[in-house]
Amino acid sequence: MSSPLQPLGESTSLRTQLCGGLRAEHIGNTVTVCGWIARRREHGEHLAFLDVRDFSGVVQCVVDNETDVRSEWVVQITGRVQARPDGTVNTNLATGEVELADCKVVVLNSAEAPPFPIDARADDVDENVRLKYRYLDIRRERMQRNLRIRAKVNSAIRRAMESQSFVEVETPFLMPSTPEGAREFLVPSRKEPGSFYALPQSPQLWKQLLMVAGIDRYYQIARCLRDEDLRADRQYEFMQLDAEMSFVTKDDVLGAISEAVMAAAEAVLGERPPQIEQITWLDAMNRFGLDKPDMRFGMELIELTSVFAGTEFKAFAQAESIKGLRVDAAKYPDAASFGRNKLDALTDRAKQIGAKGLVWMKVGEGLVLDSPVAKFLSDEERTSLVVAMGAQPGDLLLLVADSWSTTCEVLGTLRNDIGRPPVHEGPYRYVWVIDFPLFVGINATTGKPQPGHHPFCQPHPEDIERLESDPMSVRALAYDLVLNGWELGSGSIRIHEPEMQRRVFRQLGISDEEADRRFGFFLQPFKYGAPPHGGFAFGTDRLVAILAGEENIREVIAFPKTQSGSDPMTNAPTTVNPAQLAELGIRLLPPPAKS
Ligand code: AMO
Ligand code: AMP
Repeated sequence: MSSPLQPLGESTSLRTQLCGGLRAEHIGNTVTVCGWIARRREHGEHLAFLDVRDFSGVVQCVVDNETDVRSEWVVQITGRVQARPDGTVNTNLATGEVELADCKVVVLNSAEAPPFPIDARADDVDENVRLKYRYLDIRRERMQRNLRIRAKVNSAIRRAMESQSFVEVETPFLMPSTPEGAREFLVPSRKEPGSFYALPQSPQLWKQLLMVAGIDRYYQIARCLRDEDLRADRQYEFMQLDAEMSFVTKDDVLGAISEAVMAAAEAVLGERPPQIEQITWLDAMNRFGLDKPDMRFGMELIELTSVFAGTEFKAFAQAESIKGLRVDAAKYPDAASFGRNKLDALTDRAKQIGAKGLVWMKVGEGLVLDSPVAKFLSDEERTSLVVAMGAQPGDLLLLVADSWSTTCEVLGTLRNDIGRPPVHEGPYRYVWVIDFPLFVGINATTGKPQPGHHPFCQPHPEDIERLESDPMSVRALAYDLVLNGWELGSGSIRIHEPEMQRRVFRQLGISDEEADRRFGFFLQPFKYGAPPHGGFAFGTDRLVAILAGEENIREVIAFPKTQSGSDPMTNAPTTVNPAQLAELGIRLLPPPAKS
């Protein structure tokens, strides 16, 4: 047994070594490892091979075949490190040159046969089963790796924030409902039946109050809760690196957050990403059609409105905007062979997103356009189109005429559908999208503008004079960080003057009285000397997923919910005892009829 003073990092009173760390240089030493039986193979009449696994890897142990151990039993094995005999070295295994011989096996615990093989190669287990037995799923290599990457990211972020003088402050979970945008999880109050707390969608209000309070630089790796439909990049509970700074401009915030993101990427990939570029929201929309542009590939949208300025083609006449997408046959050889079914599917997809239709054209030899609508275009329009699109024989051209925002959204989405590599496929392209609009769209119920991000963003100083006369044209000092087409995070310079906050609330249809009633607790402190401040939050689940090469953030969360929001392991959400409800003053309505 090892001495507890042995300087090996992972040694304990029960083991001297990790299974995965044994190498040829250890030959001749007697070591003790602990772990689970990964595999047992009988060898001849008297011997058996046990593969023993811990988080670091697997080592082969030669034991007497009388040894009674089975898959996933927990063992402590003391043995002599020896070279594997010639011809039996396993070059696929880090420990493949050695094995433990003359082994003494102590069974620390027996185990039932697991519901699925823990073997790393068996990746076809149904996700519900994986989540029902998540503690076994985490025993597997994929989750071990992902959770350790996650820990590295968190630790690098903490170091980066602390080295920039950010102070970690924890903020409450039980808080009033706030106007941040997402649907909240509510918690009934026992002391005040009929009243509710809301769980934080983010620590937004608290961190701004901490700036009023003179903390200067706050950060927290914060758990946030939102009752949203779940998707590959969304869970009810998720983590943010949340930060706020006083006496700053946008560039200070971008600089501090870039530092944390780069430190995290470097900790996982071993290489610091280059300086993060910036693009304005308007440029991102015009070039890529979406506010989270995937800049790893070209296929930028092409503005065609002027090409069809005087067109007689009905679908294009009088459209606010006409844009095109060129599917370059040299890069996407598929484009030339798109058959009718595929083109119809593209048209359906475009309509689903909101287009009235989709014009497709195949570019033939001599740059002749093959399309059902080609005959409706003049010679001049066809020629100008080919030039504007830079079309080459074999290309496929897709055109949409509509409002500016619909042309962006439809072609931006088709661009991603056709050209986008998996999110984790390199090169990693980080980009800051800056100057988001202060308001987006009109709320159907109130008829008033809706906040682009949240109602606390500072309007762009160049646009403030238009806040009342032309609110939809006002930009905000708001910015997003995008990685390979995923939104990693958002932030802004905040409003710090009460009067400016009221002007923005009024545009949203919130009167001064209503603002005082609903958000007085937040507005009041700003009267006592709020410094100019700004901040940011990025989703660490998303960053970890991309760095770990995973498409779904569930793969980097220890105990996530399924797509339908449940947990097959604990069965949450569950009904509760009627007495618990009575104590909270809650009576349940009959469940809504299933449609
Ligand atoms: P926002 O709402 O944009 O900003 O959220 C910031 C980042 O949090 C992550 N995120 C999620 N991750 C997983 N599951 C979800 N359901 C989910 N929702 C959001 C995303 C997103 O970009 N308080 C502001 C920030 C600020 O202004 O400082 C905020 O929360 O990566
Ligand atoms: P229509 O005139 O509606 O029969 O449409 C003729 C062709 O133009 C069809 O291929 C439609 O898909 C396409 N189309 C119609 N409206 C639009 C539009 N707004 N933008 C792009 N294509 C359109």
